[in-house]
Formats: sequence, structure tokens, C-alpha cells
Amino acid sequence: MRVGRAALLSVAVAAFLPVAAQAQAMLQPPPKAMPANPTVDQNDWYKTGIIYEVYPRSFADSNNDGIGDIQGIVKHLDYVQSLGIDAIWMTPMFPSPQADFGYDVADYDNVDPQFGTVADVDQLVAQGKGRGVKVLLDFVVNHTSDQHPWFQQSKSSRTNPYRDFYIWRDPKADGSPPNNWASIFGGSAWTLDPKTKQYYYHFFYPQQPDLNWRNPKVEKAMFDAAEWWLKRGVYGYRLDAVDTMFERTDLKDNTVYPGVDAFGVPNQDHVNNSKQPEVHTELQRLRQMVIDKYPGRILVGETWTSDASELVQYYGPRNNELQLPMFLNLISLPALTAPDLRQRITGVETNSVGGWPSFALSNHDSRRAASRYPLPAGASTDDWAKITGALLLTLRGTPVLYYGEELGMVNNDPQRIEDVQDVIGKKGWPKEKGRDGERTPMQWDASTNAGFNTGAKPWLPVAPDYKTRNVAAESADPHSVLNFYRTLIALRRTHPAMSGDWKAVDTDDKQVLAYQRSGGGKTVLVLLNLDSKPADVPIEKTDTMEIVRPLAINRALLISGSIHLDPLGVYVAEITR
Ligand code: NOJ
Ligand code: CA
Repeated sequence: MRVGRAALLSVAVAAFLPVAAQAQAMLQPPPKAMPANPTVDQNDWYKTGIIYEVYPRSFADSNNDGIGDIQGIVKHLDYVQSLGIDAIWMTPMFPSPQADFGYDVADYDNVDPQFGTVADVDQLVAQGKGRGVKVLLDFVVNHTSDQHPWFQQSKSSRTNPYRDFYIWRDPKADGSPPNNWASIFGGSAWTLDPKTKQYYYHFFYPQQPDLNWRNPKVEKAMFDAAEWWLKRGVYGYRLDAVDTMFERTDLKDNTVYPGVDAFGVPNQDHVNNSKQPEVHTELQRLRQMVIDKYPGRILVGETWTSDASELVQYYGPRNNELQLPMFLNLISLPALTAPDLRQRITGVETNSVGGWPSFALSNHDSRRAASRYPLPAGASTDDWAKITGALLLTLRGTPVLYYGEELGMVNNDPQRIEDVQDVIGKKGWPKEKGRDGERTPMQWDASTNAGFNTGAKPWLPVAPDYKTRNVAAESADPHSVLNFYRTLIALRRTHPAMSGDWKAVDTDDKQVLAYQRSGGGKTVLVLLNLDSKPADVPIEKTDTMEIVRPLAINRALLISGSIHLDPLGVYVAEITR
């Protein structure tokens, strides 16, 4: 039993709602068509917006070849619109040998035929526009594919004009790599080119050589590529792997730590080949010279920072860098506990003065949130999906949802190495099983292949729960994860408090994360029990605070003078101030 703090969580007993009325409140169907956001300034659309990450390979396969494609996304734009999404972030669909499923780009100004054509992207942009859904692309800035013509030129001779597009260094006297930097995808970060007898540098796979951003010609070529899509109506970019755009030119060795990574390489700190100060100056130039020429266009960052103070550097000194550096630290937490979340969210809130926060809990590189944490007794995967959705959708910052998160989709990890598609899974098996599990096909309905297609075997197996966990089934079930998300999204888009401040309440509680959103003269209270035991939040008669209206509830009841929350219980209600 939790001891509540009267001043913070007290609600007047006069406002007691019978259990049936609360159940009714949570059964309210979300609106069919989402109302328009009360946008502050059109160029600030992202502040009231919700971004939805689409992994094109896995979303919907329109031509039945087993691989999702752009027309598949076009086909489902009505669904995306009905969810209340303001922008999709489409992960790379550029021509690519697919060594890293598109994060190895061979031509920034085109589309891989397996995903479609430039005309398909134009259609996606136009049809999205008609539905209020903007399109963001994924700009892979750190590296290209080794099949990119720039690299083909670069490796052809030491004197080729493109040689300095990449990072080439001589071997050490004994022929070994220039330093001890390791690739985070296994092995040395250097690969020897036998023809020109120099090593090239790659933070990721050898098929992903790092660009040399110190070369002004690289900047020009990449800025041109960014602009090419903006001119076509794309609304901006999620920037891939920004931390690693620069490395120290003196090639200082990284400090090595005890133990080895999943690939058997000694652990090291990557301090000399990531998060260099030049990253910020370069991103500010991209913002100023390209993005700001087009009103309303934004940059979202794949910013894996160690804490909020590091994160805020990505806003730039005058908010002139990234509009949305994603705070990804919640993903890395080994457990979602109230104290850890409170500390991190408060950190973002207090540090990001002038900048706008953005949070994500799942993506194509991380286990899906609904199956990431242990299940408390009596709770289900749906409950994890609901509490993580309630968190993400009631915070102040822009939420970045991952396709299927709104269904409570779970990881479907390969069981045998021979089934693995993601190369890091093949190289690191069994310690690192790769990222296939979180990339399985979107679950649309109960038909064969979950409605992903009606043809060839999908590139990854559909998760076994698809017969019940799918858009069609969940749409018809008032208690589903999907309808819970729809309720929360409608709340986010319509309730004035959701455009206002965020404030933690009851700052010592170890079980329940409690906070208020206040704006437009209204306040919403959010209680999330992240503990494996039930919690009770007492109600004080004497206080002025009252529950006006329960808004979204799961495994929680207002009863006998307390809000009772079962493990993973969610209670969101409008209260008087
Ligand atoms: C981050 C991307 O999200 C990931 O999927 C990719 O493998 C690396 N960057 C390298 O581009
Ligand atoms: Ca296809």
C-alpha cells in the first residue's frame, strides 16, 4: 500500500464516480476522424504532432513479393490518418544493396525498385498532404553504401577526386589497422583495400564506409541530396547516426575496458570516434543552409545521449540545430521504474529550455516495448502496451511511435541462426540475435500473412499472435490496445491541458509515476503504476482537488477513498486545480 501525499494527489470524495461510470469513461469510442490540432504556428506543427515510424519493408506489401513497399504505405494512409498521426518517418527506401536493410545508401536521389519509384514517393507525399499526414525521410549522414558511385570512385585510386570523400589511412608498420577503433557491428572499424593498400574507416559494417564530413565537397553533395527531397514536398528528416559523423583526426586509440562485446571484440568507449564537437557545427549548417529555406521543415535526431544535458546540445545555442533530438534514453533503461522515469523526464523538462522534447520507446533497432520488460503477476503484454502508450502520449514532448506499437505488437525473435536476416544477428549469435524480432510484418488482420500481403512469404515471419493482435480485431474490441491508443491520441489532440506544462507530483513515490499536465485553465492527472505490486493513491476530503472526468483507465479504480492501481495500472483524469 502506497502512502499518498495529500497535497499532491488528493481528490475530493464528492467527485467519487461509481466503478460503472469509470468503466464507461474508458469505453468511450475515440472519434472516427481526428479533429485538427490546435496548432500554435504552422511551422511549429511538430510540437502538437505525433510522428509514426514506418519501416517500409515490413508495413505492407502491395505487389506480393514478400517485401513491403511504398504503395503499401499509400494504401494504408487512411489508417494512419484515422490514428491521428501528423507525420510518418519512413526509414530508408533509397537504392541499396540492403547490407543493412537500406541504411547503406547507394543513391540518395532515387528509390530502390523493390520499394517503388520516385513517383510513388511523390504520390505518398501528395496523398499524405490531403490527409494532414506529412512525410519525413531518413537521411543517412554518417556513411554511404560501398556500392555508392562516390565510394567506387574513391577506392579506385589514391589520386581519384573522390578519394577524400571517405576516410583512408595507411596501415601501421606491421600492416595492422591505423588504430584500435572497433565497429559497433563487429570487428575492427577499418578494412584494408588490397588495391590501394590503405584502410578505410566504417563505424558500422564494412559495406558502410564513413563519409569524410571535413571535406567541403561531401557537405555540398549531401546538402544537395537533402534539398532534392525537400523540393519534392518532403517535410524533413530523421537523421541517422549523427553522433558518429566526425572522428578525431589524430586517430587517438579508444580506452579499452574489461570484457568483450557480442562479437568477441574487447569493449571500448568510442570516445574518440563519436560525439565530436564538429557534429553540432555541421548540423547547424544543415539546418541553416537547407532546412530553414523551406518553412515548417524539421530535423529529428537519432540522438543516443547519455543524459538530458548532453541531449540539449543538439538544440544548438539558439535553437538553430535539431528541432527534435529524440530522447532515446528511456529505451535503454533495463527496467521502467517510477524513480528512473521521473528523474529522466524531469531532466529533459528542466534542461530543454527553449527546445522542444521528443520521446520514443520503441524503434527498428530496439526490442518492442510491449515485450521488453518482465510481466508482473496477473498483468499481460497488453498492459505493458497500454502503460507505455499512456506514458508516451501524455508527456509534453512529441511522441515517436513505431508501427504496430499501437497494437501492442511484440518481438518475434528468430530461434535459429539460419533464420536470421539481420547480419549483426548472424555475426553475434546467440549473444546478439539481431533486430529481426522488432521488424516483423505489420499485423493488419487475421488473414494469411496478417494482411501484410496475399502472396509470397513475408521477408520475416509474422508474429504468432497476429490472429487476435491486428488492426481489424482490435478496432472491434473496445478494450483493445489500439482503442486505448486512439483514446489517448484523441485526448492529446483535443484537451487543452495536453498542450500545457508537465509537472511531476509525489516526487518520492517508488511505485507510481504521477504527473500533471496543465494548460488552458485545465489540468490532467496521470498515474502510472510501474511496480509489480498494487498501489493505492489516497484521496483527501479536505482538499480542493476533484476528479472532473476520467479520461483513460486500465487496471485502476477510484474506490473507497483511493485510486487503486493494479500492477501496470493507468489512471488518467481531468482534475480541478
Ligand atoms: C541507426 C539505424 O537506426 C540502424 O538501423 C542502422 O543499422 C545504423 N544507424 C547504421 O546506419
Ligand atoms: Ca513488395
